[in-house]
Amino acid sequence: MSFHGLGKIILLGEHAVVYGYPALAAALDRGVRVAAVPTPAGGALRVDIPSWNLRITADDDHPLAVALCAIADKLDIGRPPLTLVGEAQIPAGAGLGASAAFAVAISRALIDFRDRKIAAAGGSAMPATLGEVTSAANASEALIHGKASGVDVALASNGGIGVFRKASGLRPIKAELRVLIGPSGASRSTSTMVERVTRACSNNADDPRLAELGSLTDHGTNALLGGDHVGLGTSMDRAHALLAELGVSTPLLDGLCEAARRAGAYGAKLTGAGGGGAIIAIAPREKESDVLAAWRAAKVDGFVAKVGG
Ligand code: MEV
Repeated sequence: MSFHGLGKIILLGEHAVVYGYPALAAALDRGVRVAAVPTPAGGALRVDIPSWNLRITADDDHPLAVALCAIADKLDIGRPPLTLVGEAQIPAGAGLGASAAFAVAISRALIDFRDRKIAAAGGSAMPATLGEVTSAANASEALIHGKASGVDVALASNGGIGVFRKASGLRPIKAELRVLIGPSGASRSTSTMVERVTRACSNNADDPRLAELGSLTDHGTNALLGGDHVGLGTSMDRAHALLAELGVSTPLLDGLCEAARRAGAYGAKLTGAGGGGAIIAIAPREKESDVLAAWRAAKVDGFVAKVGG
């Protein structure tokens, strides 16, 4: 049996969401999948994800080993002799929610292991709830990203598309969208970018740039629900400019967004923490290949993702 967590894109509202504003986000149809294989008696709790070149044991000095321990501790299961063998279909550190997808997949696998052990001992385990999965995965995200809002874990575990708020969680919406995704190849750290925004706005949730990012989520969501892709694209362009003002864009990301707009996109922006990672664009169907070609000319291999539904 295997367990998954999905990658995600944030269409609008990243960073502001940490301060309580809404974010419009969607799960990808790909992420991280793991299966639990018993390690020989006395063996360590390990994770092996060859596509990320990742081979760790729980006591390694590695951020994902720290994540693994945070999840095991939250579930109160010690360090069982298990190897979680996985496959990742999204790049790590690319702004597509890889760490949350990892945390959700691992949480599901460890909850299943715990419940089987309870059943084998004659007990009856309650079926795992989504709440238990998200609270275990959020324990890991809090350690890796510091001030994580929970948006990545909500999408990694729920799937779909919706508006997320820290106070109320994910509100699914009924919408479908084709999104062009361009992983820039530049790695970055989410926690460093979150700290950068904290400094830029003096940790003040009333900063007008954060407030405007929040209103853009509302405008963009209404535009999406009304089928107004021009309006959604305009909100995305403005959100990118505000994120750049907050210090989380780079010349590479600005250039890729500009190239997408010149190739006919309705709008383009960085997605996720910024500082590297990925950009997204939406475009009329007949212009999608031009946008992808413009990115390819800049050595970025983009792809089209269908989100929502
Ligand atoms: C990261 O995908 C999104 C941020 O807003 C951080 C968070 O919400 O946890 C930058």
